[in-house]
Amino acid sequence: MVDVKKVAVVGAGLMGSGIAQVALMADYDVTLVDIKQEFVDSGEANIREGMQKLESKGKLGAGITADSIMSKLIKSIDLAEAVKNVDIVIEAVVEKMDIKKQVCKTVMDNGPDHIIFASNTSTMSITEIAKDSGAPERGCGMHFFNPVPLMRCVEVIRSDDTSDETFETAMEVAENLPCLRGDRYIAPVLKEGPGFIVNRMNAPVNIYIGWVYDTAKERGLDWAQIDADAGGKMPMGPCELADYVGLDTMMHTMNYYKETLSEDFEPPKVVKEMVDNGNLGAKTGKGFYDWNQGREGIKQKVKAAEPAGLFDLQTSMAIMLNEGCRILDEGIASGYKIIDDANMAGMNSPGPFGWGKSNFEKAAEILEDLVKKTGKEYFKPIELMKSGGFKKMRK
Ligand code: CAA
Ligand code: NAD
Repeated sequence: MVDVKKVAVVGAGLMGSGIAQVALMADYDVTLVDIKQEFVDSGEANIREGMQKLESKGKLGAGITADSIMSKLIKSIDLAEAVKNVDIVIEAVVEKMDIKKQVCKTVMDNGPDHIIFASNTSTMSITEIAKDSGAPERGCGMHFFNPVPLMRCVEVIRSDDTSDETFETAMEVAENLPCLRGDRYIAPVLKEGPGFIVNRMNAPVNIYIGWVYDTAKERGLDWAQIDADAGGKMPMGPCELADYVGLDTMMHTMNYYKETLSEDFEPPKVVKEMVDNGNLGAKTGKGFYDWNQGREGIKQKVKAAEPAGLFDLQTSMAIMLNEGCRILDEGIASGYKIIDDANMAGMNSPGPFGWGKSNFEKAAEILEDLVKKTGKEYFKPIELMKSGGFKKMRK
């Protein structure tokens, strides 16, 4: 195993600054890299803010201050130079294959012979990212969840080429990174597939939600009525959540799954129209909702709305159960407990297997019905799910 002391985090945005914060807290020597000084500085400011919160709560340990930790952070806008003496690079640049490939090659060309490259991609193939780098066996995935300091899960991903040494080192580094809300939970992803475990299992719920949006529009329903269907059982209803994540992000991700999993991931018409008009949700101030009224205003609107009776939470659970069974069937995870635990640690919401163990027959009926209603064959229950065979695959 590589003895990791020096870590470089590439990309100082939302995820990169969170990863660098927890790496600093684990006492690694950390270099933060981006393409412009202002981006590195802004990442540094985010980390400092987090450290200062911890200092004010007395959570940094005796004699340790935010300043003393921050003074150890090295900043760089020269990737080739920054990785010269580094043991592992965790990449959190934009979700674009050509850029990730380029970053990986620069790391392998300029780093020491043992350097490991771990990508934080949400969906994409690690095999493809590392394939032309000259050292694909030293590439792997380390997929964190947003916000990194608060979400416990890290998926550590084996590509087709990842060596045992690379995988074991990445597992160990992930385990060393602290989490502010309980122990880190590391989900080993034994074989890569689009979206790995947690994102993959949640992906087809968006096909259903897309059908809900388009049907709601045809019926002239108000978006708040759809969110009212969730009955306060989700932190955000499906329209508010899509606005929060970003409608462009939802569209790009669905297009990726359309290419890699099934045509049924075609993004909904409603979302395509909004994106074409530059309405991307919370970040542009407009999407399903007008965000200028603030989240509180949206919450009040949803509270006052008459539920539409169109979006059903149990249907979402049934879809996740079926996808979770596909993940087992494809050998991506070794057992359903890991899948449920990863969902809880990565999204703070329960996975489908706890419910599915005694409700799989009902879930199969819900899904057969959904295929008829939506015309989307991807929802068809797979054998492992409808037979309940998954119950033997706990670990
Ligand atoms: N450093 C130090 N302290 C921090 C901090 C940081 N970086 N960030 C937050 N904190 C502190 C806050 O100051 C706060 O402290 P107090 O309790 O003393 O006030 C505490 O941590 C909790 O922070 P919040 O008040 O912001 O937390 P919350 O209770 O409102 O919960 C949440 C926020 C955890 C995000 C919760 O809303 C949640 O679970 N949402 C779901 C998020 C989710 O689903 N994430 C996964 C998205 S999918 C993904 O990431 C994968 C992908 O590939 C796209
Ligand atoms: P972001 O836009 O906040 O940050 C990306 C950063 O990468 C930017 O600062 C950008 O300047 C920098 N960058 C771009 N090209 C670069 C290059 N060649 N070298 C160095 N830096 C470069 O994005 P983010 O939300 O932090 O996402 C980063 C990655 O993490 C993506 O792959 C994303 O899919 C993944 N991810 C995101 C989330 C999430 O919820 N946002 C969750 C898990 C994983």
